[in-house]
Amino acid sequence: RRVVIEEGLAGVELSVMAVCDGRRAVPLAPARDHKRVGERDTGPNTGGMGAYSPVPGADEAVVSEVMARCVTPTVEALRDRGIDYRGVLYAGVMLTGSGAKVIEFNVRFGDPETQVVLPRLDGDLGLLLAAAARGDLGSADPPRTADGAALHVVLAAGGYPGSPRTGDRLDPVRLAAAGTLEGVEVLAAGVGSDAGGLVTAGGRVLGVTGTAPTLGTARERAYAGAGTVAWPGCVYRRDIGPRG
Ligand code: GLY
Repeated sequence: RRVVIEEGLAGVELSVMAVCDGRRAVPLAPARDHKRVGERDTGPNTGGMGAYSPVPGADEAVVSEVMARCVTPTVEALRDRGIDYRGVLYAGVMLTGSGAKVIEFNVRFGDPETQVVLPRLDGDLGLLLAAAARGDLGSADPPRTADGAALHVVLAAGGYPGSPRTGDRLDPVRLAAAGTLEGVEVLAAGVGSDAGGLVTAGGRVLGVTGTAPTLGTARERAYAGAGTVAWPGCVYRRDIGPRG
């Protein structure tokens, strides 16, 4: 029997996704997600109920620290073990009083962080990933982040995350209307179809990203979209975004 004792980490969380080519890693814009189903971070953990980027206080120096303390040493350690890791390394970190500390790694894009990080990417993601896959990130332009902000709200099925109700009908007119709103993008996740049209088919059903010059306006846009596509019985948090 083995007992693992972990350090309790106090601070605020940050998600940093880096593109790796086996030797080097370059960060995308940082983001923060909201994991609990209920407002003010109450209720059970979920796959994520929303996210935003930029994250106030998480400037270039913070991202550099996360890279230096958490991401780059991990890529080097993988390499030392003969693992040529090429792809996206997701670092979920806690910004503590004694620096950034790892909570989790994922070897994929993060969800829902990606829905706010990619809209801010100023450059060609395909070229970046292709360079990483070739083991030659140096041949691609480093990822740049556009000015502006993005905020994403997840609309989940009633009962999520326990036993989400499936088969509820999604209104195509409302979905189309949301698509015409300025700075609003609707993404489908747990959506299926039957003879009558689109229906809920999973826990997290739809996500709405608002983009704008500021986080405040991105938030207004995301919620305008969320209100437009919401269906009877859906669940979404009204407090996505920075506190205060
Ligand atoms: N947002 C955390 C994850 O993608 O697992």
